[in-house]
Amino acid sequence: MNAKCPKFWHGGDYNPEQWSEEIWREDMRLAKLARVNALSVGIFAWAALEPSEGRFEFGWLDRVFELAKENGIFIVLATPSGGKPAWLSERYPEARRVLKDGRREPHGFRHNHCYTSPAYRGKVRIINEKLSERYGRDPALVLWHISNEYSGDCRCELCRAAFHAWLKARYGTIEALNQAWWSAFWGHTLSDFSQVEFDDWSMSASILDYKRFVTAQTASFMRSEIAAVRKHSPDVPVTTNLMGLFPGLDYAALVRDVDVVSWDSYPAWKNDDDDWKVASDVSMMHDQNRSFKKQPFLLMESAPGTQQWQSVPKLRRPGVQLLEAMQAVAHGSDSVQYFQWRKGRGGCEKFHGAVVDHVGHEHTRVFGEIAEIGRALALLEPVLGARNAAEVALIYDWENAWGIEQMSGFNNQAKNYDATCRAHYRQLWQRGITVDVVDSIAELSSYRLVIAPMLYLLRPGVAERLGEYVRSGGTLVTTYLTGIVNETDLCFTGGMPGPLRALLGIWVEDIDGLYTDESVSIVPEPENELGLSGEYQARDFCSIVHAEGAEVLARFTTDFHAGKPALTKHRFGAGAAYFVASRNDERFLSDVQHALAQKLALRRAFPGDLPQGVTAQARANEGREFVFLLNATRREQRLNVPASFRARSLLDGARVERELSLEPYGVRVLEREP
Ligand code: GLA
Ligand code: ZN
Repeated sequence: MNAKCPKFWHGGDYNPEQWSEEIWREDMRLAKLARVNALSVGIFAWAALEPSEGRFEFGWLDRVFELAKENGIFIVLATPSGGKPAWLSERYPEARRVLKDGRREPHGFRHNHCYTSPAYRGKVRIINEKLSERYGRDPALVLWHISNEYSGDCRCELCRAAFHAWLKARYGTIEALNQAWWSAFWGHTLSDFSQVEFDDWSMSASILDYKRFVTAQTASFMRSEIAAVRKHSPDVPVTTNLMGLFPGLDYAALVRDVDVVSWDSYPAWKNDDDDWKVASDVSMMHDQNRSFKKQPFLLMESAPGTQQWQSVPKLRRPGVQLLEAMQAVAHGSDSVQYFQWRKGRGGCEKFHGAVVDHVGHEHTRVFGEIAEIGRALALLEPVLGARNAAEVALIYDWENAWGIEQMSGFNNQAKNYDATCRAHYRQLWQRGITVDVVDSIAELSSYRLVIAPMLYLLRPGVAERLGEYVRSGGTLVTTYLTGIVNETDLCFTGGMPGPLRALLGIWVEDIDGLYTDESVSIVPEPENELGLSGEYQARDFCSIVHAEGAEVLARFTTDFHAGKPALTKHRFGAGAAYFVASRNDERFLSDVQHALAQKLALRRAFPGDLPQGVTAQARANEGREFVFLLNATRREQRLNVPASFRARSLLDGARVERELSLEPYGVRVLEREP
């Protein structure tokens, strides 16, 4: 919770530099109507702040700060490094990124600077320090927004040298690198770090290290930005806005250097029967952003109306805007911010949704819905800062994602790591069970259940920690494609799943890849402890498992897989470790998770049954518990409310009856009564 503005933040990206001061005054009038209290300023304003090298123009921003203060609005101030002024590109070509094909990018676009260039770092430091000096102690400043959506890499000579230095620091000697990379393969043995190429597909370890380097270099760039803004502004927190499962950066590593986590959410609603899956995927991202620091996060951007860049930019159906806002809050956001406040007249985003459309007034559906969110957020004040307490952790790990992406083997056309994590998550979402989404090196001891799908790459210490977790009473669910390689992509010898073999009590002899139209049947053992029944289908991956102490709960029944274990459980210390040998149909996931949820008596936000597409999420604060019911379907949904669930709506004070109906895409925010 921010001490200066202890409210839900409501607002978004604001570009006064694109408009006249007359429009700014109108913006303030409209902002009041929409109950906007926080605007993010300066994101791409470098050219307006420093029109030529060393000539600074802060007058306009001073007036924006003044106007904001007069109107009770707080400022999230961005550093402008996401877009370089033309003079800078011209004067310091090294600031422009070099692409994979060796070409230096022309000036223009955005998010395309070299992260290593001392000239660029130097210029960024100067403008950041100036901003810090001028606004760093301003009472309106609540947060530093460092750059914008860091992404991409650069292959210039400076970056090459930095990569080599990074490798040298990591491995010490070139012999150690050769060993770690298995570079005798195809005669790739190197005699000097200077010979390392950016990435060579045939040397998968080099690609993993290059990706790690890109994260490290981006983090180092970000740290130098942060140091500059902190110079005159030591007490204002910093954030950088993330993009969900963006594969280019290990976000779990990047966020270590910021105080507050924030992210930009752009779900592709389709207005079809699968919208609830879209909602579940977004929920997973909210949970991940909350889990990074185990504290409330900020929704930094979301679209009012539409995202112009999608192949079909659908308008949000009535109700969806509020649903999306409340969904973020339900999962731990302390803000609802938009891209963008006012729709620009030119440039490629001129049709991107905005709170204020080209028409210029407040009489639009979108504006009305944003104002409604503003009203709702004001009523939800008691929820501010409240925690989401999770008994379940889902492991999503970027290094593992990279390893799977590089993997050549088992099944190259249906790897689907992200989708698999989402499928596991969806089952918990559907039951209203709070989930933390953490990486593989996170602390696990506080969880009752840990789900680690496809943990192909085991980072140092992970096997030991998973073992410790189960030994001391935890329940672990792992799947096919687990425990195959170490952090430099070297296969474990001594049988899969490598160092997890004793914990899981199995040996995986091999993994069969299945064509898209192929499947293998699974039948549960009679009286299996999870109560599974009927027949399930395996697709894509099918492991050949030998039980070595594990109990077999289900077996394959077709092809040469017949008779082999499909699901095992191994008691280990005070806990248990399950292994799912194949990628199975949704009913399998549902049945297994349902059984585990019951067995472990996992807490659910709502004690009754939730119809498909409806979730419940809980936040708690100083003994008060808030339950969000979210209907992510376009149908009305009815819920039977158990007598044990007594609650009152925070938005209209109404007491919850025994039957509760949620309109299409409808939301209830309830406070439980003791
Ligand atoms: C991103 C950027 C914004 C804008 C939006 C459009 O999130 O940060 O500047 O381009 O996308 O959806
Ligand atoms: Zn570079």
